[in-house]
Amino acid sequence: MPAPTTLTDTDIRVRTATPEDGDTLVDLISLVDLQLRADEVPGALAPMRHALTHSDDGPLSHRRNHFLIAENSEGVPVGAITCGFAKWMSDPNRSPKILRRRIVERISTVHGLAVVPAYRNRGIARTLLQHAEETFRDAGYTVLTLRHDRSLTKFYGRLGYISHNRLSLKLPTGELLSIADRGWKHAFKVLSPTASITTVQGMPTITGALSD
Ligand SMILES: CC(C)(COP(=O)(O)OP(=O)(O)OC[C@H]1O[C@@H](n2cnc3c(N)ncnc32)[C@H](O)[C@@H]1OP(=O)(O)O)[C@@H](O)C(=O)NCCC(=O)NCCS
Repeated sequence: MPAPTTLTDTDIRVRTATPEDGDTLVDLISLVDLQLRADEVPGALAPMRHALTHSDDGPLSHRRNHFLIAENSEGVPVGAITCGFAKWMSDPNRSPKILRRRIVERISTVHGLAVVPAYRNRGIARTLLQHAEETFRDAGYTVLTLRHDRSLTKFYGRLGYISHNRLSLKLPTGELLSIADRGWKHAFKVLSPTASITTVQGMPTITGALSD
């Protein structure tokens, strides 16, 4: 896990979240437009709150999840990133059971990335994402994926992510796993030289992410 960093330009420190950060993390991630009604948001974030109680010695902060908080010089939380496995990974219709373990050990998903309005455009989201990417890379992950609103295509592009209407993944069997979620775009970035993005059936496709 990368050591806490101080950004001299903004005096922001990034740290891993603790079990006491439940409300903080919920408040910060609620800044993301989750395309849910307000009364549905606490339920949607309940698994994150639960996962936060399972901290361990890494490489990720909370088993298969990684939760980071950015704080200002007074220790006030101003941003957060939450990552973990995606729902499709345990869906028998989407992910072949035989490959499931390898998928969750190689691919992770950013569930939420948010910075409070007064601290935006200072590079805090970029820093949080870079910290997460470094940790996942060190832990042997080959790809980081996420789902985002169409309006954020440019933002994630600036951070090195390729966005498309579908998440397309070439399996070691040669089959193509392809996921689309109405109203969302999928973005992905390779973290390892063993993986690459190639064009398959006209779609940018993650290739080599699950190879031996
Ligand atoms: C999107 C969000 C996380 C950006 O945080 P931030 O700390 O302001 O972002 P950064 O300062 O690190 O910006 C990184 C780069 O993206 C650009 N950028 C920031 N917000 C952008 C936006 N909405 N659209 C396009 N580009 C954007 C910045 O100019 C910067 O580019 P550069 O370094 O190449 O010049 C923040 O606006 C936010 O919390 N929004 C509400 C929650 C949300 O939508 N989260 C994302 C979905 S999970």
